[in-house]
Amino acid sequence: MSAKICCVKAYEVLDSRANPTVAVKVVLSDGSEVFSIVPSGASTGTFEAVELRDGNKKRYGGKGVLQAVKNINDIIAPRLIEQGCIDQFLVDDLLIKLDGTENKAKLGANALLGVSLSVCRAAAEHYKMPLYRYVGGISSYRMPVPMMNILNGGAHASNNIDIQEFMIYPLGAPSFKEAVRAGSEIYHTLADILKADGKSTAVGDEGGFAPELSSDEAAIEYIINAIEKAGYSTNEVKICLDAAASEWQSGEGEYFLPKRAKKMTSKQLVDYWCALVKKYPIFSLEDPLAEEDWISWEGITDKLNNDVQLVGDDLFVTNKNRLKEGFTKKSANAILIKPNQIGTLSETIQVIVMAKQNGYKTVMSHRSGESEDTTIADLAVALNCGQIKTGAPARSERVAKYNRLISIENELYGSQFNKF
Ligand code: PGA
Ligand code: ZN
Repeated sequence: MSAKICCVKAYEVLDSRANPTVAVKVVLSDGSEVFSIVPSGASTGTFEAVELRDGNKKRYGGKGVLQAVKNINDIIAPRLIEQGCIDQFLVDDLLIKLDGTENKAKLGANALLGVSLSVCRAAAEHYKMPLYRYVGGISSYRMPVPMMNILNGGAHASNNIDIQEFMIYPLGAPSFKEAVRAGSEIYHTLADILKADGKSTAVGDEGGFAPELSSDEAAIEYIINAIEKAGYSTNEVKICLDAAASEWQSGEGEYFLPKRAKKMTSKQLVDYWCALVKKYPIFSLEDPLAEEDWISWEGITDKLNNDVQLVGDDLFVTNKNRLKEGFTKKSANAILIKPNQIGTLSETIQVIVMAKQNGYKTVMSHRSGESEDTTIADLAVALNCGQIKTGAPARSERVAKYNRLISIENELYGSQFNKF
């Protein structure tokens, strides 16, 4: 007999950007008690499920989440009390029906996700299983390769760099912990190089440095220098970029890179990426084009499909209908997975399964506004995503995920090295 849900209680807490977010506690009849905290994006895609904010400027500048909290305590909780905790798909279905909108606008995706994740955590606790094992069963075994963000620009930093994230990807590391070690060593080396050049080592939202530089290419060259100075080669440690180009779209087929005040057409932007991929050791390119620029997405996929991973974040928003459109239009070859873009765990799992069945790679991802919650670390292993991006190897809300993965690796593989 599975334990029943006997308490669902939501409250407002802070995220890593000093903004309020939703926390949800779930208690079971066997006494298990868990909680989870919902993350929040800054460069959000237009087609993401709705994050409910109060809009009352007198509290947290309008960013309060008391309505989402109330929706959980007054509307969702009474429907879940006395329900079993193990039927995740039934619980999520109930949440989706209670909301009743296509984009979770009524109760809020932040309300739904907090409940969905906490119910799952509670069930794992009931069975005394680690979360990854409860979700993935015997087929959860694959440690993800981390994409670590070490230089920030775009909407995540107030410097003059347009590309939002410059990440290092230690795919040659023999284990997850060695990948984290490479990330840490390169991060420190980059700080030393920046300091020696008189540049700032202040950090952006995800913990990467946010210096003023002469160009986005200069940022890549600093990183290559740091990789090599730290004793690694660019065969072992590659570069991943997230342009977050939806932020740049200024009209149909037109872009405006705000930091450099530079206009570009879609075609010029595609040519720019092709040249960059040719010149530098780039493994992955996320959102190189805007979320509605399907024609250019198709074009860039046709050109670069065999050379680089093309990740749709704002393009797919963890939504199965958008992903299906991507299959039809042969756009991208990988999907970023952000549970709060869609609002429930079941839908997140369905999208991952669908992506894999169609040969698309999956990258589990944090948001730029995060907390100590480590659920995505467990999900990356449970669902064998193969890759995770969760920020710099610095700042506790990012490191919490890396540390959780190191602990999972120890549980799964002991002191043996686990080749990715
Ligand atoms: P966000 O950034 O959480 O601000 O959307 C992360 C990303 O774009 O991948
Ligand atoms: Zn992105």
